Amino acid sequence: MDAIIQSNRNFMKSNHKQFKGITDQQKNLPNPPLQKPYDKKGKIINLPKVDKNIIKRNDLYKCLKERRSIRQYSDNPLSIKELSFLLWATQGVEEIIRDGYATLRPVPSAGARHPFETYLAINRISELDKGVYRYLPLTHQLLFLFDKDDMPKELNKAVFGQNFVGNSAVVFIWSCIPYRAEWRYSILAHKAMLLDAGHVCQNLYLACEAVGCGTCAIAAYDQDAMDNFLKLDGKDEFVVYLAPVGKL
Ligand SMILES: Cc1cc2nc3c(=O)[nH]c(=O)nc-3n(C[C@H](O)[C@H](O)[C@H](O)COP(=O)(O)O)c2cc1C
Repeated sequence: MDAIIQSNRNFMKSNHKQFKGITDQQKNLPNPPLQKPYDKKGKIINLPKVDKNIIKRNDLYKCLKERRSIRQYSDNPLSIKELSFLLWATQGVEEIIRDGYATLRPVPSAGARHPFETYLAINRISELDKGVYRYLPLTHQLLFLFDKDDMPKELNKAVFGQNFVGNSAVVFIWSCIPYRAEWRYSILAHKAMLLDAGHVCQNLYLACEAVGCGTCAIAAYDQDAMDNFLKLDGKDEFVVYLAPVGKL
């Protein structure tokens, strides 16, 4: 156990001075796609443009001061406009820079690699069927993936019985595609990717606060169960973080 703790502590440190390798970017290997490719013939939903008028609370000071992890939600659905705002705040694309080299978003990311995909397990969003979707940040759309009868039950099991997760209106599940950052940073990418994930969830907290929703960061989950739930290979893409959202 001591050896694992030591090795995990070392992982938390900056290893820039130790790294003597050459990265795939320096080898001129192709930049991986900014967004996971998808079947263009799939069921795609255009999200409404982000509408600032849905923001109930514009006071950043109050949002910061009153932000709390919320584990109890009402049965009211979120509107699709609210969902659109939350997706934009967490992973929306504001700008594509240098001819498709990288994206700039409301959250920072080391080297603008943005190594995440956002999946949604939707229970109660007005105008959307229940099921699992993927956010397409480059076009601000949703891609419907599949439906599952027992989705809340399966999710609750995958988070070790934290039942407020599966019963929420929508669960944001962030997967990581590590090569997107490894291409540029090699073995230095991994610490940065976890730091990046924190920014994403913090924006979700603040955006929820602004539109009268609640959320709670979740890191206690069963890795295999969550990856299987989303049908991810667990190697080149795997879940790193999730957060249920509901109306207050
Ligand atoms: C990285 C991280 C992981 C967390 N994982 C869980 C979790 O699995 N379950 C849970 O109920 N809360 C989880 N939380 C929420 C914390 O328990 C919460 O932030 C903390 O108790 C402080 O409360 P506050 O957010 O209301 O200020 C997590 C928070 C963070 C930042």
